[in-house]
Amino acid sequence: MIGTANGVAISITGLGSHVPERVVTNDELSTMMDTSDQWIIERTGIRERRIAAPEEALSDLCLPAARQALADAGLEGSEIDLIIVATVTPDMAFPSTAVILADQLGATRAGAYDLSAGCTGFMYAVAQGYGMLAGGLAQKALIVGGDVLSKILDWSDRGTAVLFGDGAGAIVLERVAAGGFLGFELGADGSGGPQLYLPAGGSRSPASAQSVTDRQHFVKMNGREVFKFATRILVSSAQSVLAECGRTVEDVDVYVPHQANVRIIEHAVNKLGIAREKVVIDVDRYGNTSSGSIPLALADAKADGKLGKGKLVLMTGMGAGLTWGSGLIEWTDGGMG
Ligand code: ACO
Repeated sequence: MIGTANGVAISITGLGSHVPERVVTNDELSTMMDTSDQWIIERTGIRERRIAAPEEALSDLCLPAARQALADAGLEGSEIDLIIVATVTPDMAFPSTAVILADQLGATRAGAYDLSAGCTGFMYAVAQGYGMLAGGLAQKALIVGGDVLSKILDWSDRGTAVLFGDGAGAIVLERVAAGGFLGFELGADGSGGPQLYLPAGGSRSPASAQSVTDRQHFVKMNGREVFKFATRILVSSAQSVLAECGRTVEDVDVYVPHQANVRIIEHAVNKLGIAREKVVIDVDRYGNTSSGSIPLALADAKADGKLGKGKLVLMTGMGAGLTWGSGLIEWTDGGMG
């Protein structure tokens, strides 16, 4: 699907992020599996990642990020009327992490639910939040993207274990006087599902002693196929949303791609022809944080002073499904007050 804003100006008015304290370097991983700092840096650009403590669940990462985003927007939890948490690692199957978060934030007026679209989850959730606000169903939405992928990684599989990390980010969406989101492009290709999936634990293959023995509760990935998909889709999705919004690559001030791998990002940057200084990269410090990646990168860009009023920001996510999603926003300073 693809579409442009239809007259209602809606923007990001608050931003927050949170990562677990524990830093795991490539050298530390090299003591656990047959890999090396050199291999990981050359193939992925990742130097370290954050890994949650055994007792830390998704909501523990989302709550500080959400509180920061609310404070940034000058809002209380009680003023929020929609909460969407994009994730593939909720605290538990149900209740949703969004509902847990709503309770912790005192967001008693909010509708709250989780959304699953792999690493694209955050972009899907932002588009959905935008639609709810544009349609008048909600006024102030909290959109959270986060994952604790370390809990579903096979730590004996060096092909996946070195790529991911844990983290969460949150934004507040509100109506603004002018600017804000210009359009979105979202897509899905279910035929690519087997390239990146978690076989057991759902209704197709419920948890059993055998599925645990067979290590079916962990992420399985065909790295080469995902790589090909990711390099292709980062380019085509960005081009589609820009064309739909009547903008060009030259108009983009800040590019925030999903942080999976520096090589994937560099490929997209070269193909699109975006200047290096416009690209936000933090995968070296966090690894691939799945649904957390884009909001974490946005928070980093803001901390670095890259996000100012009027800047055109292009975001593209891609991941399991296979899914992808882009959004284009003219950055604004705050809400309507
Ligand atoms: N350390 C050392 N060697 C390794 C490791 C490791 N961690 N992992 C694989 N190797 C070995 C392989 O076994 C292989 O050895 P062989 O030649 O003896 O068989 C060799 O390194 C090369 O393996 P390739 O798979 O060809 O390496 P490639 O250059 O394709 O890089 C990688 C692998 C990094 C996984 C790459 O394919 C990739 O980035 N794919 C995309 C993955 C991704 O980003 N997924 C998530 C995106 S979507 C989402 O975010 C959910």
